[in-house]
Amino acid sequence: MLEPIVWNRNTLLMIDQRKLPHKREYYACKTLEDVCYAIKNMVVRGAPAIGVAAAFGFVLGIRENLEVDHISGKLISTRPTAVNLSWAVCRMKEFYRLGLDVEQKALEIYNNDIAINKKIGENGSEVILDNFNILTHCNAGALATAGYGTAVGVIRAAFERGKNIHVYVDETRPFLQGARLTAFELNELGIKNTLICDNMAGYLMKSKKIDLIVVGADRIARNGDVANKIGTYSLAVLAKYHKVPFYVAAPFSTFDPDTECGNDIAIEERSDTEIKEIGGVKIACENQKCYNPAFDVTPSELVTGIITEKGIFKASKLYKFYNKLGGKDGC
Ligand code: MRU
Repeated sequence: MLEPIVWNRNTLLMIDQRKLPHKREYYACKTLEDVCYAIKNMVVRGAPAIGVAAAFGFVLGIRENLEVDHISGKLISTRPTAVNLSWAVCRMKEFYRLGLDVEQKALEIYNNDIAINKKIGENGSEVILDNFNILTHCNAGALATAGYGTAVGVIRAAFERGKNIHVYVDETRPFLQGARLTAFELNELGIKNTLICDNMAGYLMKSKKIDLIVVGADRIARNGDVANKIGTYSLAVLAKYHKVPFYVAAPFSTFDPDTECGNDIAIEERSDTEIKEIGGVKIACENQKCYNPAFDVTPSELVTGIITEKGIFKASKLYKFYNKLGGKDGC
């Protein structure tokens, strides 16, 4: 079982995802600054995982006697799109204000995340039928969470329930989370998978090779629009055309009722280097102009259902159920 995040009393250890699948090394964070660096530079990535890392970063910041608003501001500014980050920091701030043990609370956020993912998996496994070929994009697996995974959690739960399944993994340019992380996780779990380049997905759908698509999310707006890894929107459009069910798996902590619709979601823009180089090897002209938005937004009408720990909902109805079911734990 992969342990992507380990809390060691005064050190946060995280598998350095930049080095996978070739090297399995832990990156040690002893200060708030270390955690901010790790989040910004993709040592740790994936919405729930950066939320959990930020909760422990908050603990380290408090131990360094730093001012609470300074700690929160530094953590929240590391990556703008995934709402789990500000949700976790906001909760930690509130726990601190209430005089609660912040280390204990960060551990609770960590443990709850694993339990929630297992519930998402259990709920989502129902939509995966025997002999299905499933397509996934980016990495929404154990590495993107405290453990188990969301979209990969759904695939994993179906596999654990004895379903014969096969997964097509989008390589996910430019950072290659699919090729480097998802395929690695599926191999570790013994789940049959095949790696494809992102631009092959349409051909596979046309050839009737895909029965279902499941991806994760970084932020779901009040109207059900979903921000996720760049390329998700193109998959959703293709899925609609080819009548392939398109599911999003995410915890309630990824739902952001304060953001009205997808257009209001801040999309992180990352460095040109991620496009101009692969594994440190230059593939484009030195001064090549690039554009590197890390996420896109899929309109709610293209989503067949959102698989959460509290059930599967139509994207446009999530807000209604969210309120009915008491929302997420938070401030
Ligand atoms: O830039 P990343 O690798 O942090 O992007 C990750 C994704 O887009 C995931 O699909 C999302 O965070 C869900 S992870 C359970």
